[in-house]
Amino acid sequence: MRLTDCHNIPDFRELARRRLPGPIFHYIDGAADDELTYRRNTAAFDDCDLVPDVLAGLETVDLGVEVLGRRVGLPFFLSPTALQRLFHHEGERAVARAAERFNTWFGISSLGTVSIEEIGETISTPKLFQFYVHKDEGLNRSMVERCKAAGFDALAVTVDTAVGGNRERDLRTGFTTPIRLTPRSVYEFARHPGWALNHFFRERFELSNLKDHVPQGSKVSVTVSDYFNSMLDPTLDWAKAERIAADWGGTFVLKGIMSVADARRAADMGAHAIMVSNHGGRQLDGSRAPFDQLPEIVDAVGDRIEVICDGGIRRGTHVIKALSAGATACSGGRAYLYALAAAGQPGVERALGLLQAEIERGMKLMGKAAVSELSRENLRYR
Ligand code: FNR
Repeated sequence: MRLTDCHNIPDFRELARRRLPGPIFHYIDGAADDELTYRRNTAAFDDCDLVPDVLAGLETVDLGVEVLGRRVGLPFFLSPTALQRLFHHEGERAVARAAERFNTWFGISSLGTVSIEEIGETISTPKLFQFYVHKDEGLNRSMVERCKAAGFDALAVTVDTAVGGNRERDLRTGFTTPIRLTPRSVYEFARHPGWALNHFFRERFELSNLKDHVPQGSKVSVTVSDYFNSMLDPTLDWAKAERIAADWGGTFVLKGIMSVADARRAADMGAHAIMVSNHGGRQLDGSRAPFDQLPEIVDAVGDRIEVICDGGIRRGTHVIKALSAGATACSGGRAYLYALAAAGQPGVERALGLLQAEIERGMKLMGKAAVSELSRENLRYR
């Protein structure tokens, strides 16, 4: 199977599954507990049908939207995800460059493996920094200052990680970071020599955004959940979030809002946007799907704050449904991560190109010339 055999996002998932050692693939693909929420995030779109208008006489459609204060070319952007150089040696560099080619937002994680500064120099299109609030105040301050200096355009505080989710696939496969060498993991690397050569013999990488604050090296191999539990600030609350927004002073986002009450509070505190998200099902299993929760939130705060639908998106029609329900834009992780693992930057570009083509085709078949023409008139919930 090659890149040219990938015609939809599940095809990229299959290629990623073949190319990655098991523990790495399952870290991307897996979620919390019984993975109910993970499955529901995508299945939710199937419970809602599109009702097209025809004879619209469209030759072209405009997929542009204004989100987080910037006009971009695509109503789908790249949610921040950790550890990308584990999936492909180019990691965040590859993803950022692909985002730039499609003129869409690129989000980098606090747990990124390419530095804030390098991303600042690599792309000129809008970039967002995802902020995990750590116990270490010095680290928090340094990340905000580095983002300002590197010209980042938005800061998103993730609010759904009060504790680490129970990711059982990681426990079963023994996934830790840095990777621990065990007979089983060595066997997995031997079965994937291409990945292993790139990982072990190319330039070494580290969690560049935590540099000088978090000890790195093989002595501190932990699961991602252990990391959350030991390093993140469990006392994070609204007052602290407001202080971070004030220190940052720019476009501020809360990522992981699910309830209407919290959406109102985010609007009251002056956040620019919320990402309606359950972390791709990786935190609270049984949490409602973002797409299911979207109408209530849009009705409550859609006139005051941007509402981004994050998670479960695997098709262009998923994006069209979310926009029709009132989302300002959509975002996602696995759709581009599978493609990164499958083939680096060309993979991510092909995945974004497929999604773009699917959205464009869907809009034409819906009889809509622009994203702003989509509305709930064209949606029916079953
Ligand atoms: C994530 N996500 C995430 N979110 C975040 O705020 N900081 C992070 O470091 C990460 N890391 C991360 C790693 C991996 C491998 C995945 C799959 C996800 C969550 C991410 O930003 C986004 O909310 C979900 O990926 C959305 O769900 P889909 O699109 O993957 O279904």
